[in-house]
Amino acid sequence: MKKNIAIKYEQYKSGIELTETEQKLFERAKIARKNAYAPYSDFFVGCAVLLDNGEIFSGNNQENAAFPSGLCAERTAIFWVGANFPDQKIKKIFIVGGPKEFSKKNPPIPPCGACRQSIMEYETKQNQNIELYFANLNEDIIKVSSIKDLLPFYFDSTFL
Ligand code: THU
Repeated sequence: MKKNIAIKYEQYKSGIELTETEQKLFERAKIARKNAYAPYSDFFVGCAVLLDNGEIFSGNNQENAAFPSGLCAERTAIFWVGANFPDQKIKKIFIVGGPKEFSKKNPPIPPCGACRQSIMEYETKQNQNIELYFANLNEDIIKVSSIKDLLPFYFDSTFL
């Protein structure tokens, strides 16, 4: 029997369509992107995380001469939040990335597979969806209301 999974997402053509809080989050992700350490790929990614208490923290990709030792922006940000605010819930994650020399042709970049899995862990842990936005510098924005939308047939601790 063939079955389908449908994914719901929202698309915005400009940051103006976002709420004030979401715009703030976008701005923080852009600032973080500027500070990325990506001398090997020249691909700069920033990630901002909004907590339930309203605080925003951010991270960016941190590369390494031993390539696999580097880490994506999303995990840099959420692991830091997990380490410092273990009891706070994550409400929203905003990702903005692209080549250092951005052109309008560069699409919004979604989180990689390992980051999706890592974000999934926090959704399960906090028992609350994390809204996820990914964008480019041209303010093309895609939003999903849960990481589950990007990770069908996800694996989490409920299987253990
Ligand atoms: N990168 C991220 O930071 N997040 C992603 O979701 C995709 C990829 C980084 C890793 C590496 O430093 C560079 O982008 C090129 O892959």
